[in-house]
Amino acid sequence: MIVSTKVLFEQAYKKYAVGAYNINNAEQVMALFRGNINSKAPFILQLSKGARSYTDKRLLEAMIRAADEIFPEAIFAVHLDHGDEENCYDCIDSGFYSSVMIDASGEEFEENIAITKRVVDRAHEKGVAVEAELGKLGGVEEHVSVSEADAKLTDPEQVEEFVKRTGCDSLACAIGTSHGAYKFSGSQGLHFEVIEKIAELLPGFPLVMHGSSSVPQDEVERINAAGGELKGAKGVDEDEIHKAGKMGVTKVNIDTDGRLVWCRVHREHFRDHPEVFDLRPAGKVFMGEYAKYIEHKNEVLGSAGRL
Ligand code: G3H
Ligand code: 13P
Ligand code: NA
Ligand code: ZN
Repeated sequence: MIVSTKVLFEQAYKKYAVGAYNINNAEQVMALFRGNINSKAPFILQLSKGARSYTDKRLLEAMIRAADEIFPEAIFAVHLDHGDEENCYDCIDSGFYSSVMIDASGEEFEENIAITKRVVDRAHEKGVAVEAELGKLGGVEEHVSVSEADAKLTDPEQVEEFVKRTGCDSLACAIGTSHGAYKFSGSQGLHFEVIEKIAELLPGFPLVMHGSSSVPQDEVERINAAGGELKGAKGVDEDEIHKAGKMGVTKVNIDTDGRLVWCRVHREHFRDHPEVFDLRPAGKVFMGEYAKYIEHKNEVLGSAGRL
């Protein structure tokens, strides 16, 4: 059943985090539903702009509607990931999405507020929740001086004004993570002091952590052993993800890890079965492996067993 993102957040806040998993194709959809049902976890299924145009948004949305019928016990929200104004309005007007993310984090503070507020006003008219972003993810490197690096993190001094003026329902904060498979060049981790400050200023308000893939090292090693070249890939420590969930990070975004599972399964499968050209055997292995990954991740997030 498709439910409101807000309700999922209310149930989870400071108890656990809800996994927000990106999907692009049918195998990911099936595995995501199976994994979440197996672990009795509520979840957020999110579609990026790229996912919506990879085949066709109508095909992807139809697969989600079908999965909702195939798995009536699933409890999930449908979310637009990293939208611009145009995709946000498209999703809001479609009536299918529980929530949208307006990502105007590349703009200056005032412009970010203006854009976000326009989206919030239109979304709330239709009962759609809005995630906004303040701060800039990524690029926080060890060789960058601390003050420069910190300047990219969300500034707790700005969050109250931002949330009040925009009316957004959740806030993506830059707290040390970045997108993709190369997150930290050294031993850096999450900036818990920033999460703590923001959560103190916005009690009860759900925070979102993007770039939350753990980039499992065994996946990376297996990919490389099967012909891949992922050098120095690194992700977020799972203990840190768990801890963030207890501090007000209520939505944890994961895409890269799913791609790694896909890549490992397919590389190994075609290496080990050079005579095979049917797409389904590898697809079946992928669905099983990705469902297992989801079950494991829900344990880490604490969302397992919450239905
Ligand atoms: O944050 C970005 C997500 O990982 C989606 O990636 O835009 O390549 O679909 P994508
Ligand atoms: P990862 O690249 O760490 O999976 O992050 C995904 C994300 O933030 C989607 O919005
Ligand atoms: Na998002
Ligand atoms: Zn993201």
